[in-house]
Amino acid sequence: MKLLITGICGFVGSRLAAYLQEISPGVEIFGIDNLLRPGSEMNREALAKRGVRFTHGDLRLRSDVDALPKCDWVIDAAANPSVLAGVDGRSSPRQLSEHNLDGTLNILEYCREHKAGFVLLSTSRVYSIKALAQLPVEVCDRAFELNPRELRTAGVSAAGINERFSTEPPVSLYGATKLASEVMAREYGLTFQFPVWINRCGVLAGAGQFGTAEQGIFSYWLHAHAERRPLRYIGFGGHGYQVRDAFHPADLAELVSAQLKQDPPEDPVFHVSGGAENAMSLAQLTAWCDERFGKHVPQPDTRPRPFDIPWLVMDHTRAAEHFDWRPKRSLYAILDEIFDHVRHNPGWLAKCGAV
Ligand SMILES: NC(=O)c1ccc[n+]([C@@H]2O[C@H](COP(=O)([O-])OP(=O)(O)OC[C@H]3O[C@@H](n4cnc5c(N)ncnc54)[C@H](O)[C@@H]3O)[C@@H](O)[C@H]2O)c1
Repeated sequence: MKLLITGICGFVGSRLAAYLQEISPGVEIFGIDNLLRPGSEMNREALAKRGVRFTHGDLRLRSDVDALPKCDWVIDAAANPSVLAGVDGRSSPRQLSEHNLDGTLNILEYCREHKAGFVLLSTSRVYSIKALAQLPVEVCDRAFELNPRELRTAGVSAAGINERFSTEPPVSLYGATKLASEVMAREYGLTFQFPVWINRCGVLAGAGQFGTAEQGIFSYWLHAHAERRPLRYIGFGGHGYQVRDAFHPADLAELVSAQLKQDPPEDPVFHVSGGAENAMSLAQLTAWCDERFGKHVPQPDTRPRPFDIPWLVMDHTRAAEHFDWRPKRSLYAILDEIFDHVRHNPGWLAKCGAV
């Protein structure tokens, strides 16, 4: 089987290439990346050593996509993945939609032409920020926790939000490009008869992730803590109680490997995530770091930041039922892996463009 991974020099794309080679022998991997993400060029050599056939190209350019070799499946892992993209002064809304939506459209045209299957790496940020912000939470052990007694919203339980949660705007410009990509992917698949899977991924984390304060938060927090960079608890009273769950790209690879071998159901949208058992607040993460690197106190910054939410945990029950899939790597195992990376890679954040 020939597999094309877009954004192959990114954190997720490069890890998927490595893990899929291990668990799916016989798969031949091709990749494209424009090396837009600071740090992404560091993955080129390792991919070349693995025999991955790399094209330095840009998905926004139809001619770059036209020149790609014919493959059986595409995993779309190319994007500007920051929830602040388009409003952070570093990328414009137009640039964001060119990378995240126009790029996906060009790849869907590729799939139409070659009858290739398509796997979109979508995101938890397709969900309504207003609805998420209104979820009833209480503080327990320095972390926001859902209060089930007050819960009146559809698509959410103590296990997290599920695929039926509201996607009403606002979802952030980033979330909107992903939601629009989902709709177009499903429409292309149905119209031109090629298989489409949509994986709404929770936070992905692991060693070698390019961390910034806006994206790749677990990697950023450990490296920044070790480097004694100033850390901030932004919004929500400045306590760091906000909670996210996380999972490892090796677990994503196991799910994708299963998807490449079967036809998608009528509704091809699945949550892939760490789930409630792999959720943690920033304050709890700081306590974990304090034990390893010595105490380093984040400063409260009570000004709210656009698109921030207090509690977002992704329920992966549907993936568990459909694929018998569960994340095998615990959040603590992931943190240990990043810790090891921190010890062997001083100055990592500067290489990732973190300011
Ligand atoms: N990392 C996470 O926590 C997370 C969570 C949910 C969803 N996702 C999704 O997973 C995918 C991969 O995320 P990541 O964390 O690896 O991000 P990343 O920034 O590490 O990797 C993205 C890669 O895409 C490349 N790229 C961007 N625009 C491109 C273009 N126009 N043409 C070619 N290459 C381009 C970048 O250079 C980069 O190497 C993204 O689609 C993201 O939305 C990631």
